[in-house]
Amino acid sequence: MSAKGSILIIDDEQEIRESLEQILGVEGYRLASAATAEEGLKKMDEGVFDLVLLDINLPDRNGLELLKILRRDSPDAGVIMITAYDSSQMAFQASKEGAESYITKPWDNDKLLLEIRNALDKSRLQVENVQLRRALKRYGLPNIIGKGERIQRVLDLITQVAPSRATILIAGESGTGKELVAKTIHATSPRADRPFVPINTGSMPVDLLESTLFGHVKGAFTSAIATKRGLFEVADQGTIFFDEIGTIGVETQAKLLRVIQEREFMRLGGVETIKVDVRIIAATNVDLRRMMEEGRFREDLYYRLHVITVQLPPLRDRKDDIPLLVQHFLDKYGRENNKTDLELSPEALDLLQDYDWPGNVRELENVIERAVVLSPGSRIEADFVPDHVRRTRAFELPQFVLPPEGISFKEVITDFEKRLIESTLETAGGVQKRAAELLQIKPTTLNEMIKRYDIRPRRKKAANGSGAAATDDASALEPIVSEPD
Ligand SMILES: Nc1ncnc2c1ncn2[C@@H]1O[C@H](COP(=O)(O)OP(=O)(O)OP(=O)(O)O)[C@@H](O)[C@H]1O
Ligand SMILES: [Mg+2]
Repeated sequence: MSAKGSILIIDDEQEIRESLEQILGVEGYRLASAATAEEGLKKMDEGVFDLVLLDINLPDRNGLELLKILRRDSPDAGVIMITAYDSSQMAFQASKEGAESYITKPWDNDKLLLEIRNALDKSRLQVENVQLRRALKRYGLPNIIGKGERIQRVLDLITQVAPSRATILIAGESGTGKELVAKTIHATSPRADRPFVPINTGSMPVDLLESTLFGHVKGAFTSAIATKRGLFEVADQGTIFFDEIGTIGVETQAKLLRVIQEREFMRLGGVETIKVDVRIIAATNVDLRRMMEEGRFREDLYYRLHVITVQLPPLRDRKDDIPLLVQHFLDKYGRENNKTDLELSPEALDLLQDYDWPGNVRELENVIERAVVLSPGSRIEADFVPDHVRRTRAFELPQFVLPPEGISFKEVITDFEKRLIESTLETAGGVQKRAAELLQIKPTTLNEMIKRYDIRPRRKKAANGSGAAATDDASALEPIVSEPD
């Protein structure tokens, strides 16, 4: 991130854009430019700008009108108007609408740079953001634990995107911290004191989902006895968090797309268009690209959501963070259970390091909580590591003792396959994809065998309507409390 600030130039004349880019580029500002109002708004949606240089005469929209929109939607960014006429009337108008200042073509370079510096200094949130970024750099993001390179990259990205209104997609396996990241982005954004509204669209029927999101007017359907505001209105000026966005039906996807694009919608049964200023964060643990390719997820929505993607690494790919996470959870659950100075024996930690954590940080958290509760002393020994965590290494083929009358080859093999799949599924925490990897077979092959042998998950399954997510859903794991027998 450039320390000097980022500037968006919106001007239809190529010459002007190029000349501004030249002057400002030399000064070290981070630059983007747009030739139309439409393009400018799109850039504003996609990036974070400290300042906008805005031509008053644009082909598709009056510059003053655009200024109004910028003031409303991106109050953090300062605006300097550019015009060919030196008109005090215009200057008055522009400052009334909230422009920082006003420059006329042709300009004096030194004066222009001075105006820009002043505007950047004045821009209130610019200052706040710098402070925020500094604080985050020094102290890190609260609650998101991790020192490894992969998680640090995620933290950097969060810090960078938090101040903007850009739509964010958080992708990662179950339990990797998607919701935690969404909350952190909200909490470190200028919207922090406005609502953070999570919604898990899971298995909600379309009607209910839509009235939940958009609200309804009295009489819209039989049970609509009063007009009700939807979550988009509740989240106005705040953040709405779509958990498991992959489970949203195609019909609702179209409506959602419209809200993301226009920031407006109608209540169910209503005629009035409601405008909101909502930041959208979505999370998914399924591969949306694949869903899109299979025609189950709208392409346009997919690209709208993919403006900025935060990819959370699975815990098995950042095992160096396990000791830190363990300490964090020991402190957390120690406090909850009035136990102090908790520590893990090196043997116990070794076991945790060796395990693959299909349920990721959440699974680790559950294991630690369980150990804290069960362990009598302050030092947690290896016995308090659950069996399924330690049972990850050596694999031994069973010894066969044949009965004198012999045995059906087919039956033994069938039985063996079935048990192998059951154990692997258990090791993989119920995640079929992972189990297939462990057995080095294709997920479809594994799935066929599961069906053929009618293998049922040992742990409870989460209620989940979507076909794709249901079988792969490692959230079915949670909470891992059942002792393997
Ligand atoms: N980096 C981290 N540091 C500390 N705690 C974490 C971290 N990542 C996840 N957690 C904790 O792990 C638990 C699971 O995280 P979270 O609910 O955010 O995951 P998720 O990706 O949304 O999972 P799911 O897909 O199952 O909904 C939470 O208690 C969260 O606080
Ligand atoms: Mg979640």
